[in-house]
Amino acid sequence: MNEEQAGNIRAGGERFLVTGAVGCIGSWVVRFLASSGAEVTLFDLNPDDSRLRLMLEPADVDFGRRITGDLTRIDDVLAAAEGVTHIVHLAALQIPHCRANPSMGAAVNVLGTVNVFEAARANGVDNLVYTSSVAVFGHPDNYESNILGDDAERLPNTHYGVYKVTNEDTAAVYWNENQLPSVGLRPHTVFGPGRDQGFTSYPTQALLAAVRGEAFHIPYGGTLGFQYAPDVARILLDCARAAPGGCDVYNIAGSTASVAEFVEAIGEATGSSGITHGDEQIAIPQGLDDPGLRSRLPSVQYTPLAEAVAATAEWFRRAMSEGRPLPPSGLIDIRKA
Ligand SMILES: NC(=O)c1ccc[n+]([C@@H]2O[C@H](COP(=O)([O-])OP(=O)(O)OC[C@H]3O[C@@H](n4cnc5c(N)ncnc54)[C@H](O)[C@@H]3O)[C@@H](O)[C@H]2O)c1
Repeated sequence: MNEEQAGNIRAGGERFLVTGAVGCIGSWVVRFLASSGAEVTLFDLNPDDSRLRLMLEPADVDFGRRITGDLTRIDDVLAAAEGVTHIVHLAALQIPHCRANPSMGAAVNVLGTVNVFEAARANGVDNLVYTSSVAVFGHPDNYESNILGDDAERLPNTHYGVYKVTNEDTAAVYWNENQLPSVGLRPHTVFGPGRDQGFTSYPTQALLAAVRGEAFHIPYGGTLGFQYAPDVARILLDCARAAPGGCDVYNIAGSTASVAEFVEAIGEATGSSGITHGDEQIAIPQGLDDPGLRSRLPSVQYTPLAEAVAATAEWFRRAMSEGRPLPPSGLIDIRKA
């Protein structure tokens, strides 16, 4: 199935709310929805639409109803959600932000997610889909296996991870007390066009540097569960359209590979030898297994790593030649990212 077909499934009468719509994964979700005939409300605090202009075809750039709103304000969220049939909830602050400002992190990631559940309840949304994270799991030393299944013990060691655990538990309460169905998905390390902030964005930043003919150092090594952003967006939409029921949370698998292998794929796709990496494994599990997702969505597919890296390089080349917005050169300061 190609990407446009994926966006065309059961579009009739759908009214989607996408929170975090101008973020990396959100822009991909919007790209697929733009070709599906669904009505879409794009909700984000950030009025900048650079990622949308990178991701959408020029004819679709003004697609949907845009709302610049704050997830922490329930009135903003309720107004954006009025009349929607589906919600894909992606807005969040990432690890560096939550570490730098835990109060704001809790407000956006915990209170903001409760507000989205309230909006789903008020509109009778069938299947609220939201992103949890690999960060609900703890340091790899806590586990016997390097690849964790859906039911591995949650042992978060960051504020961000604790907030994501709370999101999963919030979903369970809304199912038990209000019969509000939801699906939580746990990505690991998303890469591809649009990925430019957060600690695990360095592999994509390195790929863009290579396309530009610049050197770049990824400050860590080890093994990660790489997931191509369009694959994640398709999974989110397929879950939003799946028969509703329960409050399951699923790992997303993707390609478990070393940072060295990712750098090798960059070299093959771009001819660059200027990308280097550190040795240290980040303190998250090396990869995730996805039995629950496969059983709910038997058609789930992941683009092979080398193919996805090559497609991202090509996307960046095309964006450069067409003058589409790309992040500036150089390592982005993750404390501000
Ligand atoms: N990218 C990954 O590797 C990864 C891994 C695991 C989980 N996730 C989760 O997936 C989701 C999407 O990730 P992404 O990479 O697209 O993130 P992103 O940072 O690119 O996008 C998040 C968006 O949320 C918006 N936002 C932040 N605060 C807001 C507020 N108060 N009100 C409204 N909007 C607000 C931001 O402006 C941004 O556009 C997040 O929940 C993230 O925690 C991502």
